[in-house]
Amino acid sequence: MAKARALFVCQQCGYSQSQWAGKCPSCGTWNSMVETVSQATGSKRQEVNKAQVLKLSEIKVLEKERVKTGEKELDSVLGGGLVSGMVVLVAGEPGIGKSTLLTQTALHMAQNKYNKILYVCGEESASQVALRVRRLGGKGEMLLVESSDVDEIVGKIEQEKPSLAIVDSIQTLTTADLTGTAGSVGQVRECASRLTTCAKRLGIPMFLVGHVTKEGAIAGPRVLEHVVDTVLWFEGERSQSLRLVRAIKNRFGPTDEVGVFEMTEVGLMGVDNPSQLLLAERVKNVPGSVVSVVLEGKRPILAEIQALTTSSQLAVPRRVATGIDFARMQMLVAVLMRRAGLHLEGEDIFVNVTGGIKLADRGVDLAICLAIASAFLNKSLPAEVAAVGEVGLLGEVRKVQGLDKRVKEAKRLGYRVASAESGKSVAAAIKKLLGE
Ligand code: TYD
Ligand code: MG
Repeated sequence: MAKARALFVCQQCGYSQSQWAGKCPSCGTWNSMVETVSQATGSKRQEVNKAQVLKLSEIKVLEKERVKTGEKELDSVLGGGLVSGMVVLVAGEPGIGKSTLLTQTALHMAQNKYNKILYVCGEESASQVALRVRRLGGKGEMLLVESSDVDEIVGKIEQEKPSLAIVDSIQTLTTADLTGTAGSVGQVRECASRLTTCAKRLGIPMFLVGHVTKEGAIAGPRVLEHVVDTVLWFEGERSQSLRLVRAIKNRFGPTDEVGVFEMTEVGLMGVDNPSQLLLAERVKNVPGSVVSVVLEGKRPILAEIQALTTSSQLAVPRRVATGIDFARMQMLVAVLMRRAGLHLEGEDIFVNVTGGIKLADRGVDLAICLAIASAFLNKSLPAEVAAVGEVGLLGEVRKVQGLDKRVKEAKRLGYRVASAESGKSVAAAIKKLLGE
């Protein structure tokens, strides 16, 4: 076996050398040299003929058996449960609840005495994990490994052969084959690939925790997405209790499921009825508040959009968007000015989605427009209206997918949906609902 050697490889052109450089000597790209393990082997040619050619009709499709984690919301995002050898990356900002969710999952699975759970604490000490287990009221047994050396961890996994391995977090691990520090792109990628190989070889499902920072640090989950089978993205505001867990990649299931959780004193609780939670504190009949129905995966959720406008003291008025895309808000403000004749030029505009959730569904456009118009005109919408519709640059309201699902959910909570059918343009919708 040839010795592993560390090389710095340019991610743009593939040039490699044994020393790091800020700028690739070959193509001149800055910051593109990433440390990589190179296996210099002399006997590669002999293995060339090993690949088999298979006939599609002769390939046996194995229906993989699913193991339920016991966390209902997590199982549904995973597509029904864990599959042997499945590697799941759980990504999110620090402090959002990744360790909490995985500890809970471990405890659930540990209730079955045939399950052996291995929890690798790279970040915290074993006693911190034990403290969290106590806080969560867990009783099950599990094995804890305090280590940050990936090769040692792989060794322990091979020795113990657990039924589930949890690695918290991938950014704390290193391999001695590379010189980079923990958390560098090279280390994160190499450690993840060694763990993945181990999970596949032994057929063990594995969770990897990956931190993302607000700026989207480069050594974060993005560099791992292609290595793992499934990427679960944790969303939510740390100051709020609602958490969404979204599958953004899943080789073993759909990516349109969303798990909804609430962070409580005793851990993360699955939420069956997120709309009720989001609308619980809504103040009705106040200008600037509009309810919309968004589709989160397959699930319709009612959310409240709030807007506030005040005449600006600044040369360039302030526009602040929380929970929606800033560029989208600017576009909608432009549409309101040009297509609905609202004079928002000198106004500071703030838009906020309550509950700390982020909405990417275009169906929320109409509600944003109505909220801004309602705040600006100082008139409130009928309290039972939920606005749904995408808004185009011509000021037209467009239909959205899954309208019947949204109408049904709105009805269940006592709301009536105003959508493309009830007004052909934003201007018409404002006239109809705000009486202007
Ligand atoms: P944690 O799972 O440690 O976050 P991450 O692993 O994503 O960094 O969660 C940390 C926060 O969650 C912390 O601020 C405390 C809070 N928390 C609760 O509110 N209730 C609980 O039962 C637990 C375990 C944590
Ligand atoms: Mg943690």
